[in-house]
Amino acid sequence: MALLKSTKVFVCLGNITPSLGVMSARNSSWWGGVQMGPPDPILGVTEAFKRDTNPKKMNLGVGAYRDDQGKPFVLSCVRKAEALIAAKQLDKEYLGIGGLGDFTKACAQLALGADNEVLKSGRNITVQTISGTGSLRIGANFLSRFHGGSRDVYLPKPSWGNHTPIFRDAGMQLKAYRYYDPSTCGFDFNGALEDISKIPEQSVILLHACAHNPTGVDPKPEQWKEMSDIVKKRNLLVFFDMAYQGFASGDIDRDAWAVRYFIEQGHNILLSQSFAKNMGLYGERVGGFSVVCKDNEEAKRVESQLKILIRPIYSNPPMNGARIATTILNTPDLRALWLEEVHGMANRIIKMREQLAAGLKKNGSTHNWQHVIDQIGMFCFTGLKPEQVERITKEFSVYMTKDGRISMAGVSSGNVEYLAEAIHAVSK
Ligand code: LMR
Repeated sequence: MALLKSTKVFVCLGNITPSLGVMSARNSSWWGGVQMGPPDPILGVTEAFKRDTNPKKMNLGVGAYRDDQGKPFVLSCVRKAEALIAAKQLDKEYLGIGGLGDFTKACAQLALGADNEVLKSGRNITVQTISGTGSLRIGANFLSRFHGGSRDVYLPKPSWGNHTPIFRDAGMQLKAYRYYDPSTCGFDFNGALEDISKIPEQSVILLHACAHNPTGVDPKPEQWKEMSDIVKKRNLLVFFDMAYQGFASGDIDRDAWAVRYFIEQGHNILLSQSFAKNMGLYGERVGGFSVVCKDNEEAKRVESQLKILIRPIYSNPPMNGARIATTILNTPDLRALWLEEVHGMANRIIKMREQLAAGLKKNGSTHNWQHVIDQIGMFCFTGLKPEQVERITKEFSVYMTKDGRISMAGVSSGNVEYLAEAIHAVSK
């Protein structure tokens, strides 16, 4: 067919050179059936923001921390770690398939606590991943290949926008359990328990370890305990996504409480970690994926299969971010500085929540905005409806995801009043 077409063009154009004839054949499309896809629900917001020329524009779409001047923030502990690494003149050889050994060790210790029995008995396997997304995807692929029990993954409703395509593209089936109650802008504890108690045995349940994205609503310790009991009764496989350790409360141990509690209760969990937010290593793409196994022998078998999964996808992970994270975690004064800086970021966000709620009141809003203060972590689920989101973007150049989520990290002393005015204007 291609040959026929090219001959035809050559004949009808007469004296045009054969190479043009070939070009014309090349121009015939292979991708006529590819339809235009929608922009990414989160990252697409940044693209629209960049096109806006309004000097007052605000990007509250993607969850990326900004300082109080609205500028991207590189932590001092990261700058110092980079200087230490540069001074060592290290080589650029490939890492192993599972990543940098010192990193994976420190990463698991950070999540589980250094003296966790799981680490002491070597019944975990932790691999370095391409940040949280890569970690979840490796986990999803592993489930898809090896979890004989069920292909169903239960996500909280709502969940991070990328969870669905990550699991779906890995061949898992998406289901949901109630999580957020729009009438209280809080956790629907009873709804969650009721739904979880009906999940078929051996299914996978995804839990956000802290700073739930997008709602900023976390279970309290007593509620986590009840959830752990039900999950155990139902014999569900728990997959924790911990993308915000330290970012919720400012305290890395407090934010890891649910993960550690579930392990203590005997759940052999899967765990995704990201250092994008808590170390500000967004573009370095550094994260970890862990499987807690029955014993060391099982962990070794799981490790071998994780390597077989990873190798044909990206061979081995990039080293720079892992070196930075490891240097921070393993150098006592840098670690102390990091903990201070995480605390500082979490506190600035908490302050912005208070100022936003106060600003709304000052503008005369009669709605109850307590949830702006009560929710935790990077995001606030404002409760704005899609048409209000559309208006605030169009009239005020305030960019956010369609579900009404705002990244509190993009709010600063300089723009919090403008934001309060804008939210009030579209919600009164
Ligand atoms: C977000 O939810 O905004 C972040 O986790 C960034 C991302 O990749 O979506």
